[in-house]
Amino acid sequence: MLNSLTNNSSMSLNPEPRREYVNKKYNYFYGVMLELWEMVSKQNLNHKNKLLAMDFILYSWAGWSAERWNSINEIYDYFEKTGQEKLKIFILQAEKIIKKNELIPLQSNSCLKFAFDDFNQPPDYIIELGGGVGHNLIRANQSFTSAIDAKNIHYINAEINKAGRTLSSKLFEDMSIKTYSVLKFDYYEPFDLLQKLSKILKRSKKIHIFTLASIEQITFLDYNLFKMLKYIADVSSELKITFCEPVTWQLKEMLDKPLYQHNLELSQKRAHNKNLWSLIQKAVADPAIGIKICKVSPSIFRSDKRLDLAGIQVTF
Ligand SMILES: C[S@@+](CC[C@H](N)C(=O)[O-])C[C@H]1O[C@@H](n2cnc3c(N)ncnc32)[C@H](O)[C@@H]1O
Repeated sequence: MLNSLTNNSSMSLNPEPRREYVNKKYNYFYGVMLELWEMVSKQNLNHKNKLLAMDFILYSWAGWSAERWNSINEIYDYFEKTGQEKLKIFILQAEKIIKKNELIPLQSNSCLKFAFDDFNQPPDYIIELGGGVGHNLIRANQSFTSAIDAKNIHYINAEINKAGRTLSSKLFEDMSIKTYSVLKFDYYEPFDLLQKLSKILKRSKKIHIFTLASIEQITFLDYNLFKMLKYIADVSSELKITFCEPVTWQLKEMLDKPLYQHNLELSQKRAHNKNLWSLIQKAVADPAIGIKICKVSPSIFRSDKRLDLAGIQVTF
């Protein structure tokens, strides 16, 4: 399975075949992570070590290069060979590896900081679209200045992948987050989410929706996403949306100087999103939607090993 996936890097740019490919890829990533977490969660870890274990498992995913594919298999083998009684070694190993490679937590924290500024104005709901295993929401929960505020937020992970959703529920439970929902969500069918949200969201509340490297997976996003978001805006007292996506190159028309997304080639090779910024501009000009741009940052996260991320925050 591994080989058939890694050999597919020159997949067609047509969004439909890519969709199948993306599903396959994340079924593999999240399936392995879920198995690993099932072993981890049987242990009596304290909260700090659970967070560490979560990062370690995420590190095993990290992306796409051969080096990282090895790492996921190595961790898997490590568990198979050592068994659960060696969990202390696992944790020590985790600390060492994470110190060497903090990219996922760093990327996640940069995006959360852009989305929530000083973490002292908690919304009532935080929804991540394409939230994977939900680790960004867990980090958001850890980041609010007041623990009481953080506890009162309802965290919603809207994710297409079943293994990702299953692991996300387990992580919320294991991290003792009580107010959460994990919902199936597909960017290609955005309106399906409304019905599910209507059972959860109370009217006239503050809602913050964010995306982190998930719209990247959709080569051509459909404008219906913005129509769906407008419905959510209409039942909320405030709706902010923060996109953290590798689309720096798309911002070029709004800036004097041409922009450099240093790993644009990689993004293009993977057929990543090509139209987020143009759809946002369309939604700004469309009186039926009427979004306003709050802030744009061409580079909220830059690293040699991962994709540059731009941050775009809008409101209604
Ligand atoms: C690079 S991962 C990022 C996950 C998460 N945001 C994070 O930071 O860990 C991309 C995510 O997009 C999700 N995704 C891919 N296609 C999707 C679709 N059509 N609808 C919703 N989510 C999708 C994948 O399942 C995966 O969880």
